[in-house]
Amino acid sequence: MRSFPLIEKEALAPGFFRFRLRGSLGGRPGQFVMVKAWPGLDPLLARPLSIHDQDEDSFRFLFQVRGRGTAILARQEVGDEILVLGPLGQGFETGSEGPALLVAGGIGIAPFLFLARELRARGREVYLFYGARTAAELLLLEEFESLGVRLHLATEDGSAGVKGFVSEPLVSFLKESPEGTLYACGPTPMLQAVSRIAREFGLRAYVSLEARMACGLGMCLGCTVPRAEGGFLHVCTEGPVVPAERVFREAPP
Ligand SMILES: Cc1cc2nc3c(=O)[nH]c(=O)nc-3n(C[C@H](O)[C@H](O)[C@H](O)COP(=O)(O)OP(=O)(O)OC[C@H]3O[C@@H](n4cnc5c(N)ncnc54)[C@H](O)[C@@H]3O)c2cc1C
Ligand code: FES
Repeated sequence: MRSFPLIEKEALAPGFFRFRLRGSLGGRPGQFVMVKAWPGLDPLLARPLSIHDQDEDSFRFLFQVRGRGTAILARQEVGDEILVLGPLGQGFETGSEGPALLVAGGIGIAPFLFLARELRARGREVYLFYGARTAAELLLLEEFESLGVRLHLATEDGSAGVKGFVSEPLVSFLKESPEGTLYACGPTPMLQAVSRIAREFGLRAYVSLEARMACGLGMCLGCTVPRAEGGFLHVCTEGPVVPAERVFREAPP
């Protein structure tokens, strides 16, 4: 692991933080890092976080406090050193043509600022379908808009966008314009829904898988998930981003 100084800390909403670390990481959108902000062995394991964004001499991650590891991380202050291993895993495929349809659920928004920036730099039209529990948990909307990303929002309580799940505005949009490549990051039921929708409309979909991780390096079997055709894959080395059909049977071949 390498040590990087925390140079910017933002509290974006209750329980959601964004950190900028000084140093060059050299990652790609969709890759992740293993992060450890505590000395010693308690908790034992580093935690996986997506690369949220990067430039030549800094990189960022965006996280939600879930348990002990992320709670300790949230207590770090500017000037503190954070241990980072990475970049790791397979990122999003960005070479295809046509519109890019990004689908985020909750903290699944984390890798999409970097992805949207790269796709826009390649001249792609980018749409973001973004669902959260409430309007307060819809993060960074102005930053996406300033990149020229078109937003379609959903909240569970109806406080912004469509009331319900993000799959609803996605399906409405595809009924009008059934083309593009889908990129999804969020809870597994949302990834399954996106895979089903991709099949229905005959579109390619890439999903960023959720898994508990111990080593991040393919050595512990902690992160395996079943493959659609049988057997297992390591999310940390073969993912986290995989073509949807590799894990969901209902995805387009
Ligand atoms: C490739 C990858 C990228 C990720 N990127 C981000 C990110 O950019 N921002 C972010 O906030 N989170 C991200 N996560 C999830 C993050 O790793 C977990 O929230 C974190 O490890 C929780 O650690 P903790 O010690 O705070 O909680 P723990 O005490 O370990 O767990 C608290 C709760 O969170 C659940 N949980 C823990 N890890 C995961 C997981 N991997 N998937 C689903 N549920 C989990 C546990 O079941 C438990 O209910 C990512 C996960 C993966 C695999
Ligand atoms: S986290 Fe150890 S094999 Fe993937």
